This record gives sequence, C-alpha cells and structure tokens, in this order.
Amino acid sequence: MGKVSTRDIRQMKGQRPVVCVTAYDCVMAGLASEAGIDLILVGDTLGVMQQGFETTVPVTVPMMLMATASVVRARPDSLVVADIPFAIVRRSPDFVLETCARFMQEAGADAVKIEGGEDIAPVIATLTASGIPVLGHIGLLPQQVYQLGGYRKFGKTEEQRDQLIRDAQALEAAGVFGIVCEMIAADTAAAISQSVGVPTIGIGSGVDCDGQVLVSTDLLGLTPGRVPSFVKQYANLRATVKDALSAYAGEVRERTFPS
Ligand code: KIV
Repeated sequence: MGKVSTRDIRQMKGQRPVVCVTAYDCVMAGLASEAGIDLILVGDTLGVMQQGFETTVPVTVPMMLMATASVVRARPDSLVVADIPFAIVRRSPDFVLETCARFMQEAGADAVKIEGGEDIAPVIATLTASGIPVLGHIGLLPQQVYQLGGYRKFGKTEEQRDQLIRDAQALEAAGVFGIVCEMIAADTAAAISQSVGVPTIGIGSGVDCDGQVLVSTDLLGLTPGRVPSFVKQYANLRATVKDALSAYAGEVRERTFPS
C-alpha cells in the first residue's frame, strides 16, 4: 500500500477496520509498520508505559517531540500521529498552533491527536484550516483524570450519549480525519460511529467502531501489573524477555558466554 495518508484512513470507513497501536520509539514503530499497522499513535501513555509515571499528566512537549522523532526515524509506512500533551489545547490559539506545527516540522509527525469534544472544536478548526491534520479523542480523556477522579466508562446514560454524539459531530465539522473513542459503552460507540462520516477508532468501546487502537505494551504483554479488562494480550513478552535476560546472566556467570 505504501505510506498511509489521513485520506486513506478516512476512506477506510465502511470499507475495512482501521488498525492502530501505540509506539514510543523506532524499534516498535518499525515492527508495527512491518506488521501492516495502519496508524501508529505516539501516545502520551508514553509517560506511564516508558517513564514510570502514574498518569499521562506529567508528560511534556519535549518528551513527546523526542518520542515522535524516534518513531518517524523508523520511516514507517503507517501514518504517524503524535499526541498533544496535557493542557496545551487550553492555551492561546497561537500557542496551540505553534506547538502542533512543531510536531510536524521538528519531529516529522503526519498528524496530531487532541483530547476533547465540542468545547475544543473551534481550536481544532483553526488547526485543520492551517493544514494540520487532527485525530479527535472523546469519551474517557485520561489527561482529565484528576478532574474525573479515576478511569471509568462513558456514554452509559442518555444524556452522556447525546453529548458524545454532539462532541463527535462538532469534531467532524472542525475537520478531524478520525475520532478515538475511549471507554465508551459499546451501544453508544456504535451510535457515534453511525452519526459521523469519519472513522471512529475504539479503545474499550466495543466492536462496532470503525477501527481499534491498543497500547502496544498492553497487547504484547510487556506492561508491568494489571492491564485494562478490555485488552487482549497477543504475546507474553515480559516472560520472554525475562527468560532471555536470566539465560544471559547465567551464561556470563558460568563463563559459557562468550564461548
Ligand atoms: O496516549 C495513548 O496511548 C492514547 C490511547 C490510549 C488511545 O491516547
């Protein structure tokens, strides 16, 4: 297929599911591209999965720029989308535009992802009008964890469902090329998917989204501790890596390596 574009992602709606994973460095990005993943999200879950923070809130622009540039250096065919970190979207429109432009100009991202719904649609409209492709993100917004008081499911009441549909439609009108739907009740996620013309990319939101995204360390069995209940682990790399490191340590101590 060659390099995936935001146009390709849009056109997958109704044709085939969009397959997305997170990656935070060139090793994982290269593997994701070779595996035919459509979209690599340089997620701010980087803070939790690689930096040891409890939440994504401490993640900064320099951290995300560095990770995005590393992913881009793998030259993946997958579309590379960089997450815009905590509270940036609440700054002045000029600052938001400058910051998002840095992700494309300095780090080489193909697009950015921003958390928020109807309330941030005007900011997103400015970005898309300036040539910055944006992936929306609604439902659970992990950057607002301190306000939410924890992680939970969204879209369970009629009021929440109507708001989420309004959020998705406002983002579509602002020009996003897709919308991540995180931890949304499956029937509401299905209704959102039917109410917009851009692909919805679900995480913990059921099978009726137009695509799926998972955190790579979760699906590969690399995440220490518990993973969310909706995650399917396709490998147990923690055990594989630990066994390899123990075997190496044993051989060095026994002087059987180097042979
Ligand atoms: O930061 C991230 O990895 C994300 C995904 C969980 C969608 O936003």
